[in-house]
Amino acid sequence: MVFSSSLSHLAMLVSLSANTVLAAPRPSSPQSLSMNLKRRAPEARSADNIGNWAQAHKLNVEAKYRKTASSVEKRNSGQNLVVNQKADSSFFGSLAVGTPPVAYDVILDTGSADLWLASSECAASACDGVPTFKSSDSSTFQNKSTEFSITYGSGAAAGSLGEDVVQMAGFSVSNQVFGVCDQVSDGLLNSPVSGLLGLAFQTIASSGASPLWETLASSGAWDQPLMTFQLTRFNNDSKATDLEPGGTFTMGTTNTSLYTGDIDYNDIPDNDESYWLQTVSAITSQGNAITISSGSSALAAIDTGTTLIGGPADAVAEIYSNIPNSEAGTGQLDGYYIYPCSTTVNVTMAFGGKSWAISNADFQAEQLNSNTCMGAFFSLDTGDNAPSWIVGDTFLKNVYSVFRYNPASVGFAELSSEALAMNGVNAAVPSATIGSAAATVSATAGARDANNGAASFHSLSTGPVLSLLVITLTILFSSRLV
Ligand SMILES: *[C@@H]1O[C@H](CO)[C@@H](O)[C@H](O)[C@H]1NC(C)=O
Ligand SMILES: *[C@@H]1O[C@H](CO)[C@@H](O)[C@H](O)[C@H]1NC(C)=O
Ligand SMILES: *[C@@H]1O[C@H](CO)[C@@H](O)[C@H](O)[C@H]1NC(C)=O
Ligand SMILES: *[C@@H]1O[C@H](CO)[C@@H](O)[C@H](O)[C@H]1NC(C)=O
Repeated sequence: MVFSSSLSHLAMLVSLSANTVLAAPRPSSPQSLSMNLKRRAPEARSADNIGNWAQAHKLNVEAKYRKTASSVEKRNSGQNLVVNQKADSSFFGSLAVGTPPVAYDVILDTGSADLWLASSECAASACDGVPTFKSSDSSTFQNKSTEFSITYGSGAAAGSLGEDVVQMAGFSVSNQVFGVCDQVSDGLLNSPVSGLLGLAFQTIASSGASPLWETLASSGAWDQPLMTFQLTRFNNDSKATDLEPGGTFTMGTTNTSLYTGDIDYNDIPDNDESYWLQTVSAITSQGNAITISSGSSALAAIDTGTTLIGGPADAVAEIYSNIPNSEAGTGQLDGYYIYPCSTTVNVTMAFGGKSWAISNADFQAEQLNSNTCMGAFFSLDTGDNAPSWIVGDTFLKNVYSVFRYNPASVGFAELSSEALAMNGVNAAVPSATIGSAAATVSATAGARDANNGAASFHSLSTGPVLSLLVITLTILFSSRLV
């Protein structure tokens, strides 16, 4: 989630060089917070494991694209397999950029609207070991010669804007504008992730460019004008490794294998297409209703790029007041709450329609010691320009979520047993699933050419899998830290 994309380039550079976290009013910075947290640490991946994974990954990708290159199929929806990074801290997918196309892993973020990649010119330590974009390797790259900068709660990236072919989940946009960033603040990228794909509306894009998804949705490239997420849970799995299967990101259709019952859609209030806004209509904690303020302080951004759930201090305090022996955190845990781990917590949220339960496993964000846990709701002051609630993966792991372009709305449905069965199943992470280019769209013309043949993928870079540092890209801080 981007809280402020309007900070000046200069201010950002100053902050970058000072190596600090930008726009981070409270709670405290990830680095300091981590010192108090006793994580149920995932087992470190050995060099052998990583090598095996990397080799399998490369072979899978090569096999996949050799196959699709020769069997052109026309399709107008597509699936991208997601990777769950560091026990639910972040979720990333893959796309391909340029000619010949090169694959990159990018955080999938419904809380911002820009695509950017680390540049091969990036000398910042944040880019060490991260696959980077080299514009001279792409024959179709066009330099827009315009500065780009974006500020997240947890850091910032800056560079210049370019335009190139971007392919994802079987779709291709021939002239996607994106940031090529030679300045990236520490902690923003955790290998193998090279950048971020913003999935919110163009109105909040720092670049001003139409986001990939919005170009596809508005041009009619999709069977249905919507995209969906099913996200896996590994935070209560002591065997979780740095990278685990993360679920699915689907463009252009819902997938009935992944949910049951109806999808409960609620419109984006006032047609304010910026973040994926919803109005919080009800919250219960241990069966008791929480007081929700009306008006703008009930606005929530539904944000796949945020790990936890932030909300107004009063409401968050009331949630914990229903949990016996809970108390406000102090010092580095300012803004958070601690409570006895032995308490099974049941919090539900509604956004105008059905009410959705957050599992105890997700509420229990961290175990601080044998008795004390930290809850997933934290108090947040987003200021005037952002919604009061940021509803992140803590919530989204409990539902099938639908982000619908037209009518602009967010929908939730119950996860199917097939989807639930993917939680906590340690397995090799999916290979890049960029797909064949079945539908090609131009960002300016919005034209659709569904008969365009499959692209040939020559050099899919898959990037090394190193040990991962954990920062959630889009909130003020992250809950899961190294
Ligand atoms: C684009 O051009 C600018 C100069 O106008 C240059 O500074 C920048 O490095 C170029 N970007 C890329 C990705 O080539
Ligand atoms: C729907 O999800 C199932 C289970 O993950 C998957 O096997 C299938 O390919 C998906 N269908 C589409 C159209 O993406
Ligand atoms: C959680 O609370 C809601 C609201 O009171 C209730 O309907 C639901 O049954 C509870 N779930 C569990 C698992 O206790
Ligand atoms: C994790 O939490 C889910 C949801 O509460 C539960 O179904 C699952 O059994 C838990 N897994 C472990 C390993 O405790």
